[in-house]
Parts: sequence; structure tokens; C-alpha cells
Amino acid sequence: MDKIVIEGGFPLNGEIAISGAKNSAIKLMAVCLLTDQPIKLTNMPRLRDTRSMAGLLEHLGVQVDAGEGDEMLLNAETLSSTTAPYDLVRKMRASFNVLGPLIARNGSAKVSLPGGCAIGARPVDLHLKAMESFGVKIKLEEGYVIAAANGGLKGAEITFPFISVGATEHALLTAVLAKGETVLNNAAREPEIIDLANCLNAMGAKIFGAGRSQITITGVSKLSGVNHAVVPDRIEAGTYALAAATAGGSVRLTNIRSDHLGSLWPLIAQAGAKVSLDETTVLIERGGGRLKAVDMETQAYPGFPTDLQAQFMAMMCLADGTSIIRENIFENRFMHCPELSRMGADIDVRGREAIVRGVKELKGAPVMATDLRASASLIAAGLAASGETHVGRVYHLDRGFERIEVKLGNCGARIRREKE
Ligand code: EPZ
Repeated sequence: MDKIVIEGGFPLNGEIAISGAKNSAIKLMAVCLLTDQPIKLTNMPRLRDTRSMAGLLEHLGVQVDAGEGDEMLLNAETLSSTTAPYDLVRKMRASFNVLGPLIARNGSAKVSLPGGCAIGARPVDLHLKAMESFGVKIKLEEGYVIAAANGGLKGAEITFPFISVGATEHALLTAVLAKGETVLNNAAREPEIIDLANCLNAMGAKIFGAGRSQITITGVSKLSGVNHAVVPDRIEAGTYALAAATAGGSVRLTNIRSDHLGSLWPLIAQAGAKVSLDETTVLIERGGGRLKAVDMETQAYPGFPTDLQAQFMAMMCLADGTSIIRENIFENRFMHCPELSRMGADIDVRGREAIVRGVKELKGAPVMATDLRASASLIAAGLAASGETHVGRVYHLDRGFERIEVKLGNCGARIRREKE
């Protein structure tokens, strides 16, 4: 297995082009199941997670052509299976979202339950309740969801008890071909939801209100093929912006949607870096002097994203003062704290809060993380630390960051990939 080795203590200077959003791309790929016509996705990130999704779709009979550049062609003219096996679903929770589209296409499906993961239990109860509202009969057998909508899918009014990105997306993917009207209340408002709705609408779906708490969908009987560009990855952009603020230097990020990170920019500025924005680029600059402590809590969009919590914490480890970081979305997303502490950080975790007392210096160490965003926080800490940091279990990073060592290396980071 590979590891990333960083010789820290050097500022970042340069430009990084942000890729398409992983968390949009993998849901957009599932869209192909809803039509027998070809789908072309552009601005696709090349990641382990998109390869995992491609593997699952190929298993179902979809022709996938990932080509060389940032394009992917998907053609589900005919399906050869409606079973998504455990071995393919367990690699990536989002692959559970093929359940609704398979039922819409075929009337029934058998999809493995995704199981737990490193950041918390992450059940799929809201997904299953939504399916039942659409008239789907569900049985759970030997770790599989066996689902059938014998009378066809019917539109429904669904009120989510709390906000779930995955359940909102799954309901959208299912409602577009259901008969009649669906209303989703307390829906997630993430940019990835809008991206999915835009793609489906370009295929002939009738979705109104994506990006707001109430989404209305009028079912249609057929969807056509589409050519769709994936929205820029706000989490990748936020990760490099925070890395630049943490390590210091001057980094311009291009191909971003700066409005998708409205909760991040003021906090980076309060921490002491200069943030200069236009619609599609941001310049982060920080010279000498210490960072300042800033409190932060994660929230559903448009609040601060949980997927940037670990990277924000890496920055706060070096701030002057104490920062309180509260994780409201996942119950167990502080796995990076003991690893940051191995580098000299001073962090106390109390339930959902981490109390980060800033230190003057972090020191390189061998570390590893159990999820991809936590791994990215260790890289940011390693860039700012003195000495060498070895970040193990790099396969987590490869799930969600395209060529991270190349993008950072182009900004002067002394970073390389090695065999462990
Ligand atoms: C998406 O996960 C993202 N994943 C996550 O990014 C992200 O952290 C999360 O949204 C929140 O923004 C993808 O898009 C592939 P949720 P998702 O459903 O959809 C609970 C990354 O690093 N819940 O909004 O799974 C759940 O346990 C990943 O790229 C239920 O209880 O998140 C969590 O506490 C990590 N029952 C909360 O809701 C359900 O049926 C929000 O989860 C569904 C969710």
C-alpha cells in the first residue's frame, strides 16, 4: 500500500485547478439507470470512488467508457442484473442509491445494505422510508434490501425528520419516474442536490425547488440521454484553501464556485489569511505571523460542511488561542484528533466538541487516518509541521482527491508517494 511523505515547513505558492465534485459525480452516474439512452458526464474527477461506482454499474450491465480525460460515457440501454452485491456496495455507501433507480427501471431490485463506516453508524432508514412512501414493498434478508413496486412507483409527500443529503438525492432519483406529484419537505440544500436536479431536468424530468427545503417533482414517463458537466468540488477547493492558510503562502484556486463555500471564507479571513474571491477563483494569501483561533460548528448546507471539519481543525492546531469545534452531523468524526496530537497538537474531545488549544509548532510524525477528509487534514498539518510526516492508508485519499500530491507539488510542497 502507498503512503504520502511530506517534508514540512515550506509555504505553498501557485495555482490549483479544482476537479469535478466526487459527491455529485457518483450520484450523477446512477442517473444512467433511469434511461436507455447514453449519458455523457464531463468535468468528471478520476477517483477510486468513481471507479467503484463504474464497477457496480458494469455489474448491472451498463456500458461504461471512462476514456482518458475528464469525460465518462454511460449507456444503460439494457440491464443484465438488478442485484447490487455486498462486495461492490460496501466499498462506497453512495452506491446504495442505485436502489430507487433500479426499481424505477425494472419494478424490483436487490441491493446490499451498506453497513457502518468509520465516521458513525450511518443508517439508511430515511432512504427506506422514502421508498415505502413511493409504494415500494421492502424485505430485509441476509443483509440485502429486497424491494418491489408491483403497482409501479407513486408520487408521495415525504417529510424528512432531519436533513439527509443521501436520502434527498435518493428520493429525487426515484420520484422523477414515479406517477404523479412528489413533495420533499426538509430536503437537503447542498449544491450537489442542485447539480443532480439540473442533470435530471435536462433529461426531461420536472423538478422544482432544488436548493430549497421543499422540492416538488412531477413524475414523467420517460427520460432522455444528456450531456452534463459535474459541478466543481467545493470540498476539494476548501481543503486546498485551508491547506494554504495553514502552511502559509499564496495559492489561487481555479474552476471553483466560490458561492458554494460562503460559510468557509469568513472563517479563513478571521483566522488571519487574506481571501480574494471572484465567481470562479479564490486567492488565499498568508505571510508570517500566527493564525488566530476561531470557533466553528458543522451544519447542513449552507452551514459549514462536515467534510471540511478535520482540515479546519488542522489549521486551528497552530492558532493563537483556543478554538471550539463542534461536529453536529456525524457522531464519530474526530478520528483525526489522536493523529494530530501525535504531531504535537493539543486537543481534548468532549462528546461532539473538540477543544483545540493552538500550539506554536507541529512536528512531523508517522500518522494515518480512517477516512478521506481526515487524511487530508493530516496532509495539511504535515505541510505546516517541521520535519517529515508519513501519512499511511493513502487509499482513503485516493477515494476523494484527484492527484493530491501532484496538485500540492505544483505549489512547491515537498510531497511524494511511496510504497509502505
Ligand atoms: C453525504 O453523505 C456525503 N457523501 C458525505 O461526505 C457528507 O459528509 C454528508 O453527506 C453530509 O454532508 C456523499 O455525498 C457520497 P447524510 P450522506 O445522509 O448522504 C444520518 C465524504 O467524505 N442518517 O446527509 O451519507 C447520518 O448517519 C463523505 O465525501 C440517518 O440517520 O450523509 C448522518 O448522521 C463522508 N439515516 C446524518 O444523517 C439515514 O437514512 C447526515 O447524513 C440517512 C442519514
